[in-house]
Amino acid sequence: MKIVICRRPDQATFLAAHVMTDVLGRDRQKAVLGLATGRTMEAIYAHLIERFRAGMLDFSRCTTFNLDEYVGIPPEDRHSYRYYMNKHLFSHVNIDVTRTHVPDGMAPDLDHAAKLYDQAINEAGTMDLQLLGIGENGHIGFNEPYSSLASRTRVVTLDPHTREQNSGLFDDGTQQVPTRAVTMGVGTILQARRTLLVATGSAKADIVASAIEGPVTASVTASALQLHPDCLVLLDEHAAHKLTRRDYIEQMRHHDPEIIHLLAQLG
Ligand code: F6R
Repeated sequence: MKIVICRRPDQATFLAAHVMTDVLGRDRQKAVLGLATGRTMEAIYAHLIERFRAGMLDFSRCTTFNLDEYVGIPPEDRHSYRYYMNKHLFSHVNIDVTRTHVPDGMAPDLDHAAKLYDQAINEAGTMDLQLLGIGENGHIGFNEPYSSLASRTRVVTLDPHTREQNSGLFDDGTQQVPTRAVTMGVGTILQARRTLLVATGSAKADIVASAIEGPVTASVTASALQLHPDCLVLLDEHAAHKLTRRDYIEQMRHHDPEIIHLLAQLG
Protein backbone atom coordinates (compact mmCIF):
# COMPACT_ATOMS: atom_id res chain seq x y z
CA MET A 1 0.00 0.00 0.00
CA LYS A 2 1.31 3.45 -0.93
CA ILE A 3 0.06 6.39 1.06
CA VAL A 4 0.25 10.04 0.09
CA ILE A 5 -0.84 12.77 2.48
CA CYS A 6 -1.69 16.13 0.94
CA ARG A 7 -1.92 19.39 2.83
CA ARG A 8 -5.36 20.20 1.41
CA PRO A 9 -8.34 18.09 0.29
CA ASP A 10 -8.34 19.66 -3.16
CA GLN A 11 -4.77 18.44 -3.66
CA ALA A 12 -5.79 14.86 -2.84
CA THR A 13 -8.70 14.98 -5.29
CA PHE A 14 -6.51 16.67 -7.94
CA LEU A 15 -3.97 13.86 -7.66
CA ALA A 16 -6.74 11.27 -7.89
CA ALA A 17 -7.85 12.86 -11.18
CA HIS A 18 -4.23 12.76 -12.34
CA VAL A 19 -3.94 9.03 -11.62
CA MET A 20 -7.19 8.40 -13.53
CA THR A 21 -6.00 10.54 -16.44
CA ASP A 22 -2.88 8.40 -16.60
CA VAL A 23 -4.91 5.18 -16.85
CA LEU A 24 -7.17 6.63 -19.54
CA GLY A 25 -4.20 7.97 -21.50
CA ARG A 26 -2.21 4.76 -21.28
CA ASP A 27 -4.68 2.56 -23.08
CA ARG A 28 -7.57 4.53 -24.46
CA GLN A 29 -8.74 1.59 -26.47
CA LYS A 30 -9.88 -0.41 -23.55
CA ALA A 31 -9.45 1.35 -20.25
CA VAL A 32 -11.93 -0.01 -17.72
CA LEU A 33 -12.60 2.30 -14.80
CA GLY A 34 -14.37 1.39 -11.59
CA LEU A 35 -16.18 4.47 -10.31
CA ALA A 36 -17.68 5.58 -7.01
CA THR A 37 -20.19 8.18 -5.89
CA GLY A 38 -20.39 10.37 -2.78
CA ARG A 39 -19.18 13.78 -1.68
CA THR A 40 -15.46 13.02 -1.97
CA MET A 41 -15.85 11.98 -5.61
CA GLU A 42 -17.57 15.19 -6.72
CA ALA A 43 -14.29 17.14 -6.65
CA ILE A 44 -12.48 14.36 -8.52
CA TYR A 45 -15.09 14.36 -11.29
CA ALA A 46 -14.92 18.16 -11.47
CA HIS A 47 -11.16 17.90 -12.06
CA LEU A 48 -11.74 15.26 -14.75
CA ILE A 49 -14.27 17.47 -16.52
CA GLU A 50 -11.78 20.35 -16.43
CA ARG A 51 -9.14 18.12 -17.96
CA PHE A 52 -11.57 16.94 -20.63
CA ARG A 53 -12.44 20.53 -21.52
CA ALA A 54 -8.74 21.33 -21.73
CA GLY A 55 -8.35 18.53 -24.31
CA MET A 56 -6.27 16.38 -21.95
CA LEU A 57 -8.73 13.52 -21.75
CA ASP A 58 -10.70 11.28 -24.07
CA PHE A 59 -13.40 9.06 -22.62
CA SER A 60 -14.75 7.83 -25.95
CA ARG A 61 -13.35 4.30 -25.69
CA CYS A 62 -13.44 3.69 -21.98
CA THR A 63 -15.81 1.42 -20.11
CA THR A 64 -16.97 2.14 -16.58
CA PHE A 65 -18.48 0.11 -13.76
CA ASN A 66 -19.91 1.86 -10.74
CA LEU A 67 -19.66 0.33 -7.31
CA ASP A 68 -23.23 0.50 -6.16
CA GLU A 69 -26.85 1.57 -6.44
CA TYR A 70 -29.81 1.81 -4.10
CA VAL A 71 -32.54 -0.80 -4.39
CA GLY A 72 -35.90 0.63 -5.50
CA ILE A 73 -34.70 3.98 -6.82
CA PRO A 74 -35.11 4.31 -10.60
CA PRO A 75 -32.21 5.68 -12.65
CA GLU A 76 -34.03 8.93 -13.49
CA ASP A 77 -34.63 9.69 -9.78
CA ARG A 78 -32.21 12.37 -8.54
CA HIS A 79 -31.29 10.17 -5.56
CA SER A 80 -30.06 7.30 -7.72
CA TYR A 81 -26.37 6.77 -8.31
CA ARG A 82 -27.00 6.60 -12.07
CA TYR A 83 -28.42 10.11 -11.84
CA TYR A 84 -25.41 11.19 -9.75
CA MET A 85 -22.99 9.87 -12.38
CA ASN A 86 -24.82 11.58 -15.24
CA LYS A 87 -24.90 14.83 -13.31
CA HIS A 88 -21.32 14.83 -12.02
CA LEU A 89 -19.45 13.22 -14.92
CA PHE A 90 -21.10 11.42 -17.82
CA SER A 91 -23.14 14.29 -19.24
CA HIS A 92 -20.07 16.55 -19.34
CA VAL A 93 -17.61 14.32 -21.22
CA ASN A 94 -17.48 12.31 -24.45
CA ILE A 95 -18.25 8.99 -22.86
CA ASP A 96 -20.39 6.43 -24.67
CA VAL A 97 -23.24 5.95 -22.18
CA THR A 98 -23.79 2.39 -23.39
CA ARG A 99 -20.35 1.56 -21.97
CA THR A 100 -21.20 2.95 -18.54
CA HIS A 101 -22.55 0.48 -16.01
CA VAL A 102 -24.29 1.08 -12.69
CA PRO A 103 -25.85 -1.86 -10.83
CA ASP A 104 -29.58 -2.17 -11.48
CA GLY A 105 -31.46 -1.53 -8.24
CA MET A 106 -34.81 -1.92 -10.02
CA ALA A 107 -34.23 -5.36 -11.58
CA PRO A 108 -37.14 -7.78 -11.00
CA ASP A 109 -34.55 -10.42 -10.04
CA LEU A 110 -31.88 -8.48 -8.15
CA ASP A 111 -29.73 -11.54 -7.38
CA HIS A 112 -29.59 -12.54 -11.02
CA ALA A 113 -28.85 -8.95 -12.12
CA ALA A 114 -26.00 -8.80 -9.58
CA LYS A 115 -24.51 -12.00 -11.01
CA LEU A 116 -24.73 -10.57 -14.51
CA TYR A 117 -22.94 -7.44 -13.28
CA ASP A 118 -19.94 -9.48 -12.12
CA GLN A 119 -20.07 -11.38 -15.39
CA ALA A 120 -20.00 -8.11 -17.38
CA ILE A 121 -16.98 -6.94 -15.34
CA ASN A 122 -15.18 -10.16 -16.15
CA GLU A 123 -16.09 -9.95 -19.83
CA ALA A 124 -14.70 -6.40 -19.95
CA GLY A 125 -11.43 -7.73 -18.54
CA THR A 126 -11.98 -6.30 -15.01
CA MET A 127 -11.16 -2.78 -13.82
CA ASP A 128 -7.78 -1.26 -14.65
CA LEU A 129 -8.40 1.14 -11.80
CA GLN A 130 -11.05 1.08 -9.09
CA LEU A 131 -11.75 4.43 -7.47
CA LEU A 132 -12.96 4.16 -3.87
CA GLY A 133 -14.15 6.35 -1.04
CA ILE A 134 -14.56 5.10 2.53
CA GLY A 135 -17.65 5.31 4.67
CA GLU A 136 -17.42 6.31 8.33
CA ASN A 137 -18.14 2.67 9.19
CA GLY A 138 -15.24 1.54 7.00
CA HIS A 139 -17.26 0.39 4.01
CA ILE A 140 -15.98 0.39 0.45
CA GLY A 141 -18.82 0.37 -2.04
CA PHE A 142 -21.74 -0.58 0.18
CA ASN A 143 -19.84 -3.45 1.74
CA GLU A 144 -21.07 -2.87 5.24
CA PRO A 145 -19.49 -4.46 8.34
CA TYR A 146 -19.58 -8.28 8.28
CA SER A 147 -19.45 -8.38 4.46
CA SER A 148 -17.35 -11.33 3.38
CA LEU A 149 -13.97 -10.20 2.10
CA ALA A 150 -14.56 -12.67 -0.77
CA SER A 151 -18.02 -11.29 -1.59
CA ARG A 152 -19.17 -10.63 -5.14
CA THR A 153 -21.75 -8.17 -6.44
CA ARG A 154 -24.94 -8.71 -4.47
CA VAL A 155 -27.84 -7.18 -2.59
CA VAL A 156 -27.01 -5.91 0.90
CA THR A 157 -28.86 -4.34 3.81
CA LEU A 158 -27.56 -0.86 4.56
CA ASP A 159 -26.08 -0.04 7.97
CA PRO A 160 -28.16 2.57 9.85
CA HIS A 161 -24.93 4.60 10.09
CA THR A 162 -24.64 4.63 6.29
CA ARG A 163 -28.28 5.65 5.89
CA GLU A 164 -27.70 8.46 8.35
CA GLN A 165 -24.49 9.52 6.55
CA ASN A 166 -26.28 9.59 3.20
CA SER A 167 -29.51 11.20 4.41
CA GLY A 168 -28.45 14.75 3.54
CA LEU A 169 -29.54 14.31 -0.08
CA PHE A 170 -32.99 13.01 0.81
CA ASP A 171 -35.69 15.56 1.64
CA ASP A 172 -37.11 13.67 4.60
CA GLY A 173 -33.76 12.57 5.98
CA THR A 174 -32.85 9.03 6.99
CA GLN A 175 -36.39 7.62 6.76
CA GLN A 176 -36.33 8.11 3.01
CA VAL A 177 -32.94 6.47 2.42
CA PRO A 178 -33.48 2.95 1.04
CA THR A 179 -32.68 0.08 3.40
CA ARG A 180 -31.04 -2.05 0.71
CA ALA A 181 -28.55 -1.60 -2.10
CA VAL A 182 -26.69 -3.56 -4.75
CA THR A 183 -22.93 -3.35 -4.39
CA MET A 184 -19.84 -4.80 -6.01
CA GLY A 185 -18.39 -7.25 -3.52
CA VAL A 186 -15.09 -6.83 -1.73
CA GLY A 187 -13.78 -9.73 -3.81
CA THR A 188 -14.95 -8.01 -6.99
CA ILE A 189 -13.17 -4.80 -5.95
CA LEU A 190 -9.96 -6.64 -5.11
CA GLN A 191 -9.98 -8.05 -8.64
CA ALA A 192 -9.19 -4.57 -10.03
CA ARG A 193 -5.60 -4.18 -11.28
CA ARG A 194 -5.18 -1.06 -9.20
CA THR A 195 -7.22 0.37 -6.34
CA LEU A 196 -7.28 4.06 -5.45
CA LEU A 197 -8.75 5.06 -2.10
CA VAL A 198 -9.40 8.75 -1.50
CA ALA A 199 -10.45 10.18 1.86
CA THR A 200 -10.59 13.73 3.12
CA GLY A 201 -11.79 15.43 6.30
CA SER A 202 -11.44 14.70 10.00
CA ALA A 203 -14.67 12.65 10.13
CA LYS A 204 -12.70 9.91 8.31
CA ALA A 205 -9.56 10.01 10.49
CA ASP A 206 -10.43 7.14 12.85
CA ILE A 207 -11.71 4.80 10.18
CA VAL A 208 -8.82 5.55 7.82
CA ALA A 209 -6.40 4.58 10.59
CA SER A 210 -8.35 1.36 11.26
CA ALA A 211 -8.46 0.47 7.58
CA ILE A 212 -4.75 1.08 6.99
CA GLU A 213 -3.15 0.13 10.29
CA GLY A 214 -5.73 -2.12 11.91
CA PRO A 215 -6.27 -5.82 11.32
CA VAL A 216 -7.79 -7.05 8.05
CA THR A 217 -11.36 -7.63 9.14
CA ALA A 218 -14.86 -7.87 7.73
CA SER A 219 -15.83 -5.31 10.38
CA VAL A 220 -13.96 -2.65 8.35
CA THR A 221 -14.18 -3.79 4.76
CA ALA A 222 -11.72 -1.13 3.54
CA SER A 223 -9.05 -3.02 5.51
CA ALA A 224 -9.23 -5.66 2.74
CA LEU A 225 -7.26 -3.19 0.62
CA GLN A 226 -4.23 -4.27 2.67
CA LEU A 227 -4.48 -7.48 0.64
CA HIS A 228 -4.47 -5.66 -2.70
CA PRO A 229 -1.10 -5.77 -4.45
CA ASP A 230 -1.39 -2.27 -5.94
CA CYS A 231 -3.33 0.09 -3.71
CA LEU A 232 -2.73 3.83 -3.63
CA VAL A 233 -4.27 5.90 -0.83
CA LEU A 234 -4.64 9.66 -1.19
CA LEU A 235 -5.50 11.56 1.98
CA ASP A 236 -5.59 15.10 3.23
CA GLU A 237 -4.02 16.02 6.57
CA HIS A 238 -7.34 15.80 8.40
CA ALA A 239 -8.15 12.29 7.23
CA ALA A 240 -4.55 11.19 7.95
CA HIS A 241 -4.11 12.60 11.42
CA LYS A 242 -4.71 9.33 13.32
CA LEU A 243 -2.10 7.38 11.36
CA THR A 244 0.83 6.45 13.59
CA ARG A 245 3.53 5.65 11.01
CA ARG A 246 3.93 9.15 9.65
CA ASP A 247 7.71 8.76 9.60
CA TYR A 248 7.41 5.91 7.10
CA ILE A 249 4.84 7.75 4.98
CA GLU A 250 7.26 10.69 4.89
CA GLN A 251 10.01 8.32 3.78
CA MET A 252 7.85 7.10 0.86
CA ARG A 253 7.24 10.71 -0.11
CA HIS A 254 10.94 11.24 -0.64
CA HIS A 255 12.02 7.88 -2.03
CA ASP A 256 9.19 6.28 -3.99
CA PRO A 257 9.60 7.39 -7.63
CA GLU A 258 5.87 7.16 -8.34
CA ILE A 259 4.99 9.31 -5.35
CA ILE A 260 7.71 11.83 -6.20
CA HIS A 261 6.31 12.06 -9.74
CA LEU A 262 2.76 12.38 -8.45
CA LEU A 263 3.57 15.13 -5.97
CA ALA A 264 5.41 17.04 -8.69
CA GLN A 265 1.96 17.52 -10.32
CA LEU A 266 1.04 19.85 -7.47
CA GLY A 267 3.76 22.24 -8.66
C1 F6R B 1 -20.42 5.28 -3.11
C2 F6R B 1 -19.58 4.43 -2.28
C3 F6R B 1 -19.30 4.73 -0.83
C4 F6R B 1 -18.69 6.11 -0.62
C5 F6R B 1 -18.43 6.35 0.86
C6 F6R B 1 -17.86 7.74 1.14
O1 F6R B 1 -20.48 4.79 -4.42
O2 F6R B 1 -19.16 3.47 -2.77
O3 F6R B 1 -18.44 3.74 -0.34
O4 F6R B 1 -17.49 6.21 -1.34
O5 F6R B 1 -19.61 6.21 1.59
O6 F6R B 1 -18.81 8.70 0.81
P1 F6R B 1 -18.48 10.26 0.97
O7 F6R B 1 -17.44 10.60 -0.02
O8 F6R B 1 -19.80 10.93 0.67
O9 F6R B 1 -18.03 10.46 2.37
